Amino acid sequence: MKSSLLEIIYLLASVTFIIGLKMMGNAKTARNGNLIGAVGMTLAILGTIFLYDGGHQVSTTTFVLIFGAIAIGTVIGWLTAVKVQMTKMPELVSLFNGMGGACAALIGLIEYPHAAETGMGMGGMLCIILGLIIGSVSFSGSIIAFMKLNGTLKKAIRLTAYNMINNVFLLALFAFGAYFLMAASVPVAAIYVLLLMSLLYGVLFTIPIGGADMPVVISLLNSFTGLAAATGGFLYDNQAMQTGGILVGSAGTLLTLAMCKAMNRPLSNVIFGAFGESAKSGSGSGSSIEGSIKDISISDSAILMNYAKKVIIVPGYGLAVAQAQHVIKELENLLEERGVTVKYAIHPVAGRMPGHMNVLLAESNVAYDKLVEMEDINPEFAQTDVVLVVGANDVVNPAAKTDPSSPIFGMPILDVENAQHIIVNKRSMNAGYAGIENELFYNPKTSMLFGDAKDALSKLVTELKTL
Ligand code: TAP
Repeated sequence: MKSSLLEIIYLLASVTFIIGLKMMGNAKTARNGNLIGAVGMTLAILGTIFLYDGGHQVSTTTFVLIFGAIAIGTVIGWLTAVKVQMTKMPELVSLFNGMGGACAALIGLIEYPHAAETGMGMGGMLCIILGLIIGSVSFSGSIIAFMKLNGTLKKAIRLTAYNMINNVFLLALFAFGAYFLMAASVPVAAIYVLLLMSLLYGVLFTIPIGGADMPVVISLLNSFTGLAAATGGFLYDNQAMQTGGILVGSAGTLLTLAMCKAMNRPLSNVIFGAFGESAKSGSGSGSSIEGSIKDISISDSAILMNYAKKVIIVPGYGLAVAQAQHVIKELENLLEERGVTVKYAIHPVAGRMPGHMNVLLAESNVAYDKLVEMEDINPEFAQTDVVLVVGANDVVNPAAKTDPSSPIFGMPILDVENAQHIIVNKRSMNAGYAGIENELFYNPKTSMLFGDAKDALSKLVTELKTL
């Protein structure tokens, strides 16, 4: 009876994960989708604690330990998630992902001695070894990614021939893993050697990758964690764990590929290329653009926008850094009151994480239908009086279309140069994520509105109110 009820709970949980994930694909339903998935997960956890029959009585001390750990984890997770700034989200995701990897590795570590003792079959042993290897790689890799994102580890550390070293190490790791499956008897302590080797590979894999590429790497490591969790699901014949793991694994893989596609870079270039680093050190293209830039004042920007028929706002990473999402909404309201049509052009990799701009602008209640995807908005720039680029750089860099030697060549970009006037707000002439200069800033139609986005937009709003 208990076990049938548990099966039903796992099935229910699996369904909530699938429905939740589907709902997360749309900004309007994303919050509820997240909530539905969380309810399913809570059900699966409680069901396992109270209904799983492991063949022996669970002591009160064990229950106290389990609920103590859940309480501590919930409080830490809740407080961190509530406090985190949007721009720090990739860091948080990498940390949480690392914890998932560690859990999968711990399952392997705990189950291996039992499996060795009872002579578990090949299938179960494969789940244990794979879960341990993939989970550990994901854990140590995510911790390195976290340290790179928060600035503790500033440089990409590249040994000579690191690519070859990593590949040889990976082969050795899997060969050692295969030894556990093939050998008649393996000393139990050897599992710790496999753990250490896997942890070391996670570090070696992540450490050469440029800090700027971390969002893609985190998504890849996320898919590893999903796979590791799924192996646990197969080991325990737990459908909720299987579904959850497979969903995380496949969603992480798809997201990784989608990010690479939107940047027009193969995954191999993310893993083996030093994106942004070479360009910053001067070998990148576009470091010697000829021409001059011109400034624009707040009052001239306000006049230009006030008398425009149509304004397109291009938000980028700088908007998120400045937390200028509320003031940009105020600007939109003011312009619309004056009969100006306002839209937002959303580039698929603007900011630092998928959907970054959508989430940011949703915070200030910008209507969803005002956020227009790149393919749909690009033809509209030619009929636009003013484009206001706020804290965006790479996603409006024409070098992506015109300069084959540019590291971003081939990345689809927003065709802002087709508009009549372009106002670019940023603090300086500093480069963006790819570390390259931007020809757009030297375009005769472009005027630079220097300053922090929140500050500049607040002044623009004040000025507009006087017109
Ligand atoms: P970036 O190219 O990174 O440019 C952001 C610009 O914002 C910088 O040039 C910076 O110039 C400016 N800025 C920073 N703080 C500011 C502030 N407080 N006020 C005003 N401006 C500020 O951003 P983007 O155009 O959004 O492009 C995103 C990049 O990230 C792309 O190259 C993309 O491939 C990459 N990427 C994205 C993702 C996802 S999934 N979104 C994942 C991985 C990589 P100043 O310092 O002069 O102010």
